Amino acid sequence: MRIENKPGYGRKLQQAKQIQITVNQKPIFAYEGELVSTILHCEGIRVFQRKHQTGKASGSYCNIGICCECLVKVIGDHNIRACQTPVADGMIISTDIEVQS
Ligand code: FES
Repeated sequence: MRIENKPGYGRKLQQAKQIQITVNQKPIFAYEGELVSTILHCEGIRVFQRKHQTGKASGSYCNIGICCECLVKVIGDHNIRACQTPVADGMIISTDIEVQS
């Protein structure tokens, strides 16, 4: 669910260019400049990765780029920190990836 009607914030979103991305093989729209983690939360996705050794799930934690708990896979790129990466048109994102812990 997007916060589009909140005064100030919503107005900026409505002025931003709408782009198309794919998350877990599902096409969705996003606004240029939004962070990947924002989109994932809007889609109700909380598990971004699983630890290889334990299978433990993780997602957004610090939201300032330090903990790396929010790694997701982007086709054509390395695993990226969702909380620090703005979406780009045509981006293909996979969550629930397995990472070395
Ligand atoms: S949530 Fe900590 S680096 Fe993204």
